[in-house]
Amino acid sequence: MKTLDSLGDVRGKVVLVRSDFNVPLDGDTITDDGRIRAALPTLTRLAEAGAKVLVMAHLGRPKGEPDPRYSLAPVAKRLGELVGHDVVLADDTVGESAKKVASELKDGQIALVENVRFDARETSKDDAERAALADEYANLADLFVSDGFGVVHRKQASVYDIAEKLPSAAGQLVFKEIDSLSKATDNPERPYVVILGGSKVSDKLGVIKNLLEKADRLLIGGGMAFTFLKAQGHGVGSSLLEEDQVETVKGYLKTAEERGVEIVLPIDVVVAPEFKADAPATVVDADAIPDDQMGLDIGPKSAELYASKIADAKTIVWNGPMGVFEFEAFSGGTKAVAQAMSDAQGYTIVGGGDSAAAVRTLGFDEATFSHISTGGGASLEFLEGKDLPGISILEG
Ligand code: 3PG
Repeated sequence: MKTLDSLGDVRGKVVLVRSDFNVPLDGDTITDDGRIRAALPTLTRLAEAGAKVLVMAHLGRPKGEPDPRYSLAPVAKRLGELVGHDVVLADDTVGESAKKVASELKDGQIALVENVRFDARETSKDDAERAALADEYANLADLFVSDGFGVVHRKQASVYDIAEKLPSAAGQLVFKEIDSLSKATDNPERPYVVILGGSKVSDKLGVIKNLLEKADRLLIGGGMAFTFLKAQGHGVGSSLLEEDQVETVKGYLKTAEERGVEIVLPIDVVVAPEFKADAPATVVDADAIPDDQMGLDIGPKSAELYASKIADAKTIVWNGPMGVFEFEAFSGGTKAVAQAMSDAQGYTIVGGGDSAAAVRTLGFDEATFSHISTGGGASLEFLEGKDLPGISILEG
């Protein structure tokens, strides 16, 4: 992959940068700006070298047409605060406004075009449609830098096709992510422990299958733990359950046993009658979840068990919260895992938008983790060993 240096002198050139600014929002307030801060090294380096920096990004999943709920306006404002000058946001993605913004950029200035997913061609499965849009992006600029690591697993016009249209390089964030995540994929130091959480097993099938060949221990929490408990024959009350995945999970449990991979499941659970911040919470054993209750976090004994399984590990990857950490009463498991990771001596990687956001919003010091990835799906697919289109196109 080519570095920024390979682009030569960028002074006066319009450099189109793909960043991942898909940040969590509460109204128009950004609740975690980690992805914006992670983009700064590349953006400021290009700006300091005199480039006219035009950034492309997506926010959420609008339906291929402009939708004010998904405007990048809050991002432009926050980016402006971080870089110390106003960041102009074009009214469109590749239309008249974007062209005007691109042509009026001064050397060293950074501007943003509107959400690339306001154009249906961005995510089209039709190669020709995406290529046509990429031609329009290319007309705005001289060079392309791919730095949105969180989106490199998507074969989309602003990530993939554009790299075929302009001289291209990978940005600093993409290099840093690959370098750090490779510590878990290329001969990881052992014990290699992976903690998986989040709501759906079906989102993580590929990674679980792959990890059964690589990891020494798999700790399962979050909503997906209930499908595992069910596969072990336990009742799960009204907890999140993917009934259609129970057989697959039974297969995983069998494979793990054959391979000597330890799968650790919750031994107790924090339950409540409904999904609400102030719902009355009680702790029950994992094999005794009442029919009318749902599990919303791993319990304190499980948290202690997971912490002990993390403490002696040499490589630790964590993806997905252990419970509904946004609600104080159900944040204990996620806090305990974050604490154990932050105390661990091994190489620690936090991946996944939610767990990375959890670490920051729960007040942990980012410096106590070896790497906090900006990728959710992208970091999981990297760990799975999948081909990432936005990376391979830069290698070709
Ligand atoms: C993410 O949030 O993981 C990335 O920004 C990719 O978003 P997407 O899943 O909507 O493509």
